[in-house]
Amino acid sequence: MRVFALSDIHVDYDSNARWVENLSTADYRDDVLILAGDVSDRLSALSRCLHQFARCFRQVLFVPGNHDLWVLRDTPGKTSFDKFREVAVVAEDAGVSMQPFLRGSLYIVPLFSWYDYTFGAPSDTLRAAWMDFVACRWPDGFAPEDISLHFSALNQTRVPEDVARVITFSHFVPRIDLLPSSLPAEHRMLFPVLGSTHIDTQLRRLKSQMHVYGHSHINRQRLIDGVIYINNAFGYPHEERIAAKQLTAILDD
Ligand SMILES: [Fe+2]
Repeated sequence: MRVFALSDIHVDYDSNARWVENLSTADYRDDVLILAGDVSDRLSALSRCLHQFARCFRQVLFVPGNHDLWVLRDTPGKTSFDKFREVAVVAEDAGVSMQPFLRGSLYIVPLFSWYDYTFGAPSDTLRAAWMDFVACRWPDGFAPEDISLHFSALNQTRVPEDVARVITFSHFVPRIDLLPSSLPAEHRMLFPVLGSTHIDTQLRRLKSQMHVYGHSHINRQRLIDGVIYINNAFGYPHEERIAAKQLTAILDD
């Protein structure tokens, strides 16, 4: 059994949707796919994509990303928490799991998360430009810190005995030092909305050896203090320099 990682497939782009539709239904039948969020804000597109991955893989494991929780095209009054519940139903209907996965001595844990400004305070420019501030809707008084706490409170799993290897995954970035320091200022401006230090606290509490994350779209693998951090975002069509646009096997047992 192999474990593959992928995130940010953004199937609203035709070329990305075609890549998913053309994935082999024979090559990955014994394998697990970790899909770390940002498929589409349209539930119909999410459903189609998850069904296709479920046809290809023995098991697909999923956490929603910020795009999946946009309510811009949804009925007025629906919050992004409502959307999260709808996304969970779509995933379940497709046979895709948002729960921890145990097989033998391997335990794979989804970590629900949100950014919370632990990577820095947002500038006025970022507040005006970041799409989530318009496209997501939260209950009155909910700031990013509250949203982050809400989602991290869902991550209550304990690692069963006899587990030798723990893999965790989140949509958002768990550490600011995973973001290249060489990025230009207009990209560094985005850091406050890219992740949360709470994710790293949680994955280390679980003694994770490998963590898959998305959101930044910058493909990389880094070993930090005993944990391998992997980003294999598919990304937008024009992001060919930063995204390999292929499945990556992170484990081959
Ligand atoms: Fe994202």
